Amino acid sequence: QLYDFGMIGLGVMGRNFLLNVADDGFGALGTDINEESVSALNEEGKDMRVKGVATQQEFVQLLSKPRKIMLLVPAGSIVDKVIEGLLPLLDKDDIIIDGGNSHYEDTDRRYAYLKTKNIRFLGTGVSGGAKGARLGPSIMPGGDRSAWEDVKPILETVAAKVNGEPCVTYIGESSSGHYVKMVHNGIEYGLMQLIAEAYDILKRVGGMSNDDMSALFSKWNDGRLNSYLVEISANILKYRIEDTDEHLLDLILDKAKQKGTGKWTSQSAMDLGVPIPTIDAAVTMRAISAFKEYRQDNSKLYKDIHPEMPELTGPGFAESVEKALYFGFVTCYAQGMQLLAEASKEMKYDLDLEGIARIWRGGCIIRAEMLEKIRHAYGTREGLFNMMATEEFRHDLFDCRESVVELLHQANERGVPAMCLSTSLQYFEVFRSERLPLNMVQAQRDYFGSHTYERTDQTGVFHTAWDARSIHKAGDETDR
Ligand code: 6PG
Repeated sequence: QLYDFGMIGLGVMGRNFLLNVADDGFGALGTDINEESVSALNEEGKDMRVKGVATQQEFVQLLSKPRKIMLLVPAGSIVDKVIEGLLPLLDKDDIIIDGGNSHYEDTDRRYAYLKTKNIRFLGTGVSGGAKGARLGPSIMPGGDRSAWEDVKPILETVAAKVNGEPCVTYIGESSSGHYVKMVHNGIEYGLMQLIAEAYDILKRVGGMSNDDMSALFSKWNDGRLNSYLVEISANILKYRIEDTDEHLLDLILDKAKQKGTGKWTSQSAMDLGVPIPTIDAAVTMRAISAFKEYRQDNSKLYKDIHPEMPELTGPGFAESVEKALYFGFVTCYAQGMQLLAEASKEMKYDLDLEGIARIWRGGCIIRAEMLEKIRHAYGTREGLFNMMATEEFRHDLFDCRESVVELLHQANERGVPAMCLSTSLQYFEVFRSERLPLNMVQAQRDYFGSHTYERTDQTGVFHTAWDARSIHKAGDETDR
């Protein structure tokens, strides 16, 4: 009997995804250039309708048509190589699903190319890590709609469920699935860094122990901060090494790696002119973390800068950190969602933002209770610009702001940096400022480069010969 679904790339993600497909009664077939990965699949799936084969020829022959083939291989040129290898073996209308974190521009290129070869392509974001792949990820497929219709029964069955609703939906044309996954990862970077900063403030401003922080994070996870990242942070904080009873977290080097999706989010946001400073700050913090030696030297040079200050304790302090973290989370999601809204227009993705918030509620790394509110905010307002001012979030942000200001003041006094949280506060502040000092920037541009400016009291475009104290309306002067 032929198999329903094929996987190329049997690393832990690919293998787990395939076992998940087989759990749900579909015939699942896998292949990999690494023989050990093929054997591992055959071993793990020996009591299921799962099979690992060594060659692509056999793989392609054993799949039912139209073939549904997912690639879970490292992003980049390997994807192109695998596609090139497959093409001569495939038939018209077969489906290739790229489930990796490919750059959306690569996906656009592959989508167009495969169309010329009569192969249907789905650039698909898959989130949830190894466990999510095994038990139910959040899946973001974009590209050929008819291909989506064909794989829908399988993807809907394997995806995570929230209140019975599968965490997968057709995202849109071309590279939209990978774009949405990229922004998911940008938000992921922001939330992770905000949690790290909350941990640092609790530890270095409040003097809290890892075990107490773990209990606090668990408590938060039962409230409005309920989320996968807060949950795992509570577990990380209490994890001890068996032999020595030390907390593993304390022994982990503070240099964070990155594969690029956060940076791509910032790059794309810059291109589109959408401010996402919390996410930018999180990307920046990963870069800064790499300069460990320089930081070490500087910490000695500047060590006397901060006076000894008392630790802040008591329930009021912990409550402030909860408020600050909630404030940071809301601003981070708000930035990601605004970027999606703009990208939807610019790249003609026609995204359903309510649907995206819905499929992020389960399975993925940024799943969180507040996505239900985000879903509601976008579901009830056409063309929402930014969710911060909606009824869903306005009062909470207003209520939390004071705590963020006070906490950052206390952290600054003690020299505890909190780049993402500070940026989140500034993001909120500038967006509630009717007037910003950018009149000065405009004046400077005009002064040195005759770039012109508009005025608040008159219509038109103006240029001033600033040194000569004369004002001309742009267009009717000769000295520009
Ligand atoms: C997910 C994750 C995943 C990503 C890792 C590592 O949604 O399951 O986003 O796709 O690869 O989080 O990313 P970095 O190495 O860039 O931190």
